[in-house]
Amino acid sequence: MEKILDYAQPSLQGVLRIPGDKSVSHRSIMFGAMAEGTTTVEGFLLSDDCLATIDCFQKLGVEIEVDGENVRIKSNGIKAWKEPNEILYTGNSGTTTRLMLGILAGSNVSSVLIGDESIQKRPMKRVTDPLKQMGAKLIGRENGQFTPIAVEGTNLESIHYQMPVASAQVKSAILLAALHAQGETIVQEMETSRDHTEKMLQHFGADIKVRNKTIRLQGGQKLTGTHVVVPGDISSAAFFLAAGAIVPRSKLTLTNVGLNETRTGIIDVLQAMGANLSINDSENTSHEEMGTIEIETSSLKGTEIGGDLIPRLIDEIPIIALLATQAEGKTVIKNAEELKVKETNRIDAVVNELKKLGANITATDDGMIIEGPTPLHGAELVTYGDHRIGMMGAIASLITSSAVTLDDPACISVSYPNFFEQLDSVRNS
Ligand code: S3P
Repeated sequence: MEKILDYAQPSLQGVLRIPGDKSVSHRSIMFGAMAEGTTTVEGFLLSDDCLATIDCFQKLGVEIEVDGENVRIKSNGIKAWKEPNEILYTGNSGTTTRLMLGILAGSNVSSVLIGDESIQKRPMKRVTDPLKQMGAKLIGRENGQFTPIAVEGTNLESIHYQMPVASAQVKSAILLAALHAQGETIVQEMETSRDHTEKMLQHFGADIKVRNKTIRLQGGQKLTGTHVVVPGDISSAAFFLAAGAIVPRSKLTLTNVGLNETRTGIIDVLQAMGANLSINDSENTSHEEMGTIEIETSSLKGTEIGGDLIPRLIDEIPIIALLATQAEGKTVIKNAEELKVKETNRIDAVVNELKKLGANITATDDGMIIEGPTPLHGAELVTYGDHRIGMMGAIASLITSSAVTLDDPACISVSYPNFFEQLDSVRNS
């Protein structure tokens, strides 16, 4: 059902506790299911994507109890999984689909993975090709490019793999397969992508060596159940960081924000644009860094975003594009062709939807160019079923001169189920 967002000149004030990180939440379930013993998770993100991961492992016979944001996983390790008698449905989640392929390849069960309409169009050869080189038995449409994909678990060999794309999902699928392979696997990245898998492998007791952009992992290592504290998702915080910066008379405090430096590109960009923000990173309760960020209404200027900054903010580009519409001068986003294979083609989606609001924005082959500042007006926006396009539209509506309509606000629950409640709790109008 559509949602009409008609906010008359609001200001934003208050404190928000940012919900759990999606990438870390997925991995907490996957690692807990592969480990021997009990894993307890605190701050788990109860979003559609992460619930799809839980559902897949329950179908594999892993005992998982969810009590609000606390999850308990009991497993006797990967060899104890049962063959699922149903198809494993990964929903809208690229992380679930790609990482599961890596995990299942070295298990001793046969299974079939399928996702929603968006997942069925997203490229999987980037994962199935290296896994096949390790000896994985995978069959999928177009030679393993698209789901449904059938996996027959088997014994794997190690691999020396030079990554052709900067992708944490590809890197993680290989590393998780490598854990159950014979010999030492070496993965070389072209640009450093998010390293939650490496950090969590260590946290569960594995020996993994990371030097510059090279990762080495010896196969045959056992993981041991542990306690995981999931930090808040900086990719979710990004929407309120942007809102705090562009909505007049605003000041927001965001607590529990994950500050893993492979994810903090949005902070670098806000600082380069001249935003008024301060960070207190002394919260130290997780194996990942976390802290509190304060942001106030800011005068922004355009900036250039490209190169090795891109993987550090790939999911934040829709909201950065909105920020850029309110910044003085030109913002250029380049080397971001990966946007074309996200939940939707995010170059086209961002450009089409921001244009409807009156932005001066042009698509390029590998990103977009935005000229600002431009006053925005209301329009009927399409989310393309993409949570981050939906949230970009909702934040835009805070500064538009008339109402914004979102065709499918429900898609936001893929990563941020309480987004509108949190927005309403800080909005004064
Ligand atoms: C993710 C990695 C990124 C990101 C996605 C989550 C992960 O994708 O866009 O939302 O959890 O590993 P790629 O690694 O494919 O760039």
